[in-house]
Amino acid sequence: MRIGIIGTNFVSDAMVEAANVTHKFELVVACTRRLENAEAFALKHNIENFTNKHEDLLNYDLDAVYIALPNALHKDVALFFLEHKIAVFCEKPLASNISEVLEMMKASKKYNTLLMEGIIPVYSNGIQAVRKHLDRIGTVRNATFAMNQYSSRYDAYRAGEVLNAFKPELSNGSTMDIGVYPTSVAIALFGKPDHVLASAYKLESGVDGKGTILLQYADKDVIVTHSKISNQMLKPEISGEDGVIQMNHISLMNEVIVKENKKDAEVVYADYDTPQMVNELLAFEKAYQNQAIEAYPGAHQLSIDIHEVLTEARRQTNIVFPADQ
Ligand SMILES: NC(=O)c1ccc[n+]([C@@H]2O[C@H](COP(=O)([O-])OP(=O)(O)OC[C@H]3O[C@@H](n4cnc5c(N)ncnc54)[C@H](OP(=O)(O)O)[C@@H]3O)[C@@H](O)[C@H]2O)c1
Repeated sequence: MRIGIIGTNFVSDAMVEAANVTHKFELVVACTRRLENAEAFALKHNIENFTNKHEDLLNYDLDAVYIALPNALHKDVALFFLEHKIAVFCEKPLASNISEVLEMMKASKKYNTLLMEGIIPVYSNGIQAVRKHLDRIGTVRNATFAMNQYSSRYDAYRAGEVLNAFKPELSNGSTMDIGVYPTSVAIALFGKPDHVLASAYKLESGVDGKGTILLQYADKDVIVTHSKISNQMLKPEISGEDGVIQMNHISLMNEVIVKENKKDAEVVYADYDTPQMVNELLAFEKAYQNQAIEAYPGAHQLSIDIHEVLTEARRQTNIVFPADQ
């Protein structure tokens, strides 16, 4: 598949590493705001072409684009390519809010063009292992999905410089950048919750630094905690009447352990070697070859459910972006 890469920060390095492992992608052109960064990225990864205008990508006969820009820019850039019938693999979170997500889904349908939100754990072998073994722990009553990840950009914030990661005008902050992972896993496993109850700690920049989202179902609760301003040692787990499933990390999902009541714990899945984005890229490529507009039947609905929850969590905690108005 001929693909162009838009946004050249470290996540795009990870995408290239994974794409190379799949042998399914030809990296044709790199694009980012600053031409020198596009050139440096292209050089680093042996990509022949580079540009600082995403419109130029139409000149390269691309099948797809990978979008790794700040969240607030996802929608307009994705719409541009969907309208030109170029498939879009867009980094999480798909957009700033549910209205934008619905607009993107509508365009994907209208132009009959693949649109996928890249969320590593949703496509991971780890989540497949969780699904496979879920019956062993009986009726699920609770899940605690914590993802507290001190941002490399928070040092600068504390020193008085607000970088992209903490800017409301780019639709960033903890709910969007971090909370999206545990929320996605919860909804991918258990469906959309009946009720959502959120709290957050708002930074002076206007985004949330950390927060909690309680996802309430008739028979269980999922407690999502997320943070860009603190770390964690706690592991995510699902607690059922007959046992517990523990994951090493809610986004990476490299390891899954099942502990049935009165039995020894068993590692049912472990893979620390495969680059994390391989599975989602393979899902994207397969959907493209099948001429589908979503990565698998239900993938668009999953993104809609996730973003309804995230938008509601931000509404309750008064985290408002310019994109919401
Ligand atoms: N899947 C994952 O594991 C993962 C991990 C991290 C991030 N992400 C997602 O990837 C996306 C990018 O995150 P990031 O942290 O890399 O973002 P970022 O550092 O803020 O920006 C990424 C790219 O966007 C360009 N850019 C930055 N600000 C811009 C602006 N105001 N206007 C136009 N272009 C701008 C940058 O170009 P220049 O530097 O050339 O100016 C850079 O190439 C986000 O949606 C994030 O949630 C996913």
